[in-house]
Amino acid sequence: MISCRYWLKKNQPPLGVDDSSKLGDVYNVVGGSKTVVFQAGSGNYFVGLVFDVFTGGTDSTYATLEWELSLLLRNPHTMKKLQVEVRKVANGKPKITEDDLDRMPYLKAVVKETFRMHMPLPLLVPRESTRNVKDVFTGGTDSTYATLEWELSELLRNPHAMRKLQEEVCTVANGKPKITEDDLDQMPNLKAVVKETFLMHMPLPLLVPRESTHDVKVMGYNIAAGTQVLINAWAVGRDPYLWDNPEEFRPERFLDSSVDYRGLHFELTPFGSGRRKCPGIQFAMSVNELVIASLVHKFDFRLPNAQKGEDLDMSDTIGITIHKKFPLLVVATTYN
Ligand code: HEM
Repeated sequence: MISCRYWLKKNQPPLGVDDSSKLGDVYNVVGGSKTVVFQAGSGNYFVGLVFDVFTGGTDSTYATLEWELSLLLRNPHTMKKLQVEVRKVANGKPKITEDDLDRMPYLKAVVKETFRMHMPLPLLVPRESTRNVKDVFTGGTDSTYATLEWELSELLRNPHAMRKLQEEVCTVANGKPKITEDDLDQMPNLKAVVKETFLMHMPLPLLVPRESTHDVKVMGYNIAAGTQVLINAWAVGRDPYLWDNPEEFRPERFLDSSVDYRGLHFELTPFGSGRRKCPGIQFAMSVNELVIASLVHKFDFRLPNAQKGEDLDMSDTIGITIHKKFPLLVVATTYN
């Protein structure tokens, strides 16, 4: 599989509104099994690079569930035994909770047996051959966790932004012990912090490969049906023609801006765009905002060993989902 990335070259004129809508066209037409190399050089906008991408995560969870249910249907005796166990543990309760699961050894055996017979990722990931490449598969949990770690790291590096966020969260909480989802809409500053983190640390910098269904011309380039291209959303987020001082963490830039991450503004597309954009946006963002708001509501954070925020190593890994190279270690104390 071959694909490519592109970015706007520095010496090119800024994107106008019309141009940015053309940029959007790319989302709808590229992807597939051929190679597109947008040539760098005078007058050309794009640079190409060969790159491989795999997807997984949520997909493997769904695959496992389907295999499990299929095996249970093929083996009525097993299904019966499992139902007896689960109903016994439920003991008349209307709902199974996580606490019940530890008392269901047969359920765990069924899950293991399904894995044995239908390994979701049969060839795993070739670790030896990729040494420095972090072999993660894209998916809900990984990108959500990566985003949270980047957010907290940027807040530690930028104490002013952290203070502002804590003030906002505490004002909205207004003495309540817990932040709830209903509170989040009153936290514009929190939303700005999240967007700014996406801008600087796109969790899936190259999104997911796309494939064109027909021959098409985009910005003067002929793209054949079946062509595959990766969108370099990271480079768009760091483009000085689109963003003032893109290397600085400045959530304020989003306070008076309508730019959103749901796929309609091509300047910021952490979840992709178009019909195949991430279906987990709402869930991911509710979790993300709730976790960050709850953390800064309850705790003050500092780095261990009197380390200063500005010294925090923000190197990232190479991979499908981009993580901090060195996991964030923080000391949390109760916030008063
Ligand atoms: C911060 C968190 C997340 C980020 C940044 C993210 C990002 C993405 C991106 C960039 C894509 C590819 C979109 C495209 O091709 O244009 C994608 C696809 C997908 N995401 Fe997410 N995602 C996140 C969380 C989640 C969660 C929590 C779930 C599930 C609950 C989820 C489920 C999926 C699925 C199923 C697809 C494949 C959609 C398709 O191919 O039709 N994602 N995600």
